[in-house]
Amino acid sequence: MKDIVLSCDNLLKQYPVKKGMFNKVVGQKNIVDHVSLELEKGKTLAIVGESGCGKTVLTRVLLGIEDKTDGSIVFEGKSVDDMTPQEKSDMKAKIQMIFQDTLGSLHPRMSIRESLEEPLILNGVKDKEEREKIILDTLSQVGMAPMFLDRYPHQLSGGQRQRIIIARCLVVTPKIIFADEPISALDVSLQAQVINMLIDLQDKYKLSMLLIAHDLAVVRQIADQIKIMYFGEIVESAPSSEIYKNAQHPYTKVLLKAAPSISKGLEDAGFDIDLKPGDIPDPAKPMPGCPFCTRCIYADERCMKERPEETEVSPGHTVRCHKAGQI
Ligand SMILES: Nc1ncnc2c1ncn2[C@@H]1O[C@H](COP(=O)(O)OP(=O)(O)O)[C@@H](O)[C@H]1O
Ligand SMILES: [Mg+2]
Repeated sequence: MKDIVLSCDNLLKQYPVKKGMFNKVVGQKNIVDHVSLELEKGKTLAIVGESGCGKTVLTRVLLGIEDKTDGSIVFEGKSVDDMTPQEKSDMKAKIQMIFQDTLGSLHPRMSIRESLEEPLILNGVKDKEEREKIILDTLSQVGMAPMFLDRYPHQLSGGQRQRIIIARCLVVTPKIIFADEPISALDVSLQAQVINMLIDLQDKYKLSMLLIAHDLAVVRQIADQIKIMYFGEIVESAPSSEIYKNAQHPYTKVLLKAAPSISKGLEDAGFDIDLKPGDIPDPAKPMPGCPFCTRCIYADERCMKERPEETEVSPGHTVRCHKAGQI
């Protein structure tokens, strides 16, 4: 049986649409549009989609930093709606976040030791010697020498800072890591190192990971499951290997083509597809059809009028497209 640590069902997050001089609220726009997902123990779920599609808002709502508009979130078998404030704060301690911005994630005037010690103090580790032991231990897990402890964030390279941020997450032994574009700001040569490190650590600590990316190449090595997000909605969802071999949604195919390391030699598999010049729809003005139809080369009249339902094309592989299986 699957061991699900975190899940959400039909999660909806709306923001108000404001107009005019007085910022009058004239409607609501769906930013996270009925998203359902399950995060399995020790596994990585990747959410991939272009900038602005709602990935960060989704993680913030899952973590409870922002309220959801509708839908349900369940952590370790308990709905967040039924949690006491203490249970909510325990949940937040068990989920740690890694962000893209490595400089902004560490306090500039705190030494690396202080940055690593702070979460331990907050977590109630009172004994200084014990804290030091945990810090040294974790530091070696992320491949950094103890001499870095007395340095400050600006004295470290981007890759070193990202290692410290990962160490800062690990000192409190989390169950889940949310990694929001953790390597987008790093050089290509460092990206592979950080991904490899995450794979090792995940294995060692049996961590579940929600990995956010805008690029399918980045998640290939590490993801077990992939969900493709477009305009707040999950448009395709499948085990990782299935996405790379048998993508069905035209948007997934565009993402595959845009990842050069993957797309080489894949033209025969139908991935030689481009976007139609068209705008991303305005979330404040929802349209009746498929949100991708303005940019889809296969879109016909039905796509413009009728929103596609999620359909299962093979076990565990769902897609939201009228043309699935035909293109
Ligand atoms: N507090 C907010 N109020 C209104 N709109 C917001 C707010 N935060 C984010 N958005 C909008 O939500 C959309 C998704 O943003 P985001 O989740 O940051 O995208 P991504 O992480 O996929 O790049 C964007 O169009 C953004 O402008
Ligand atoms: Mg983001």
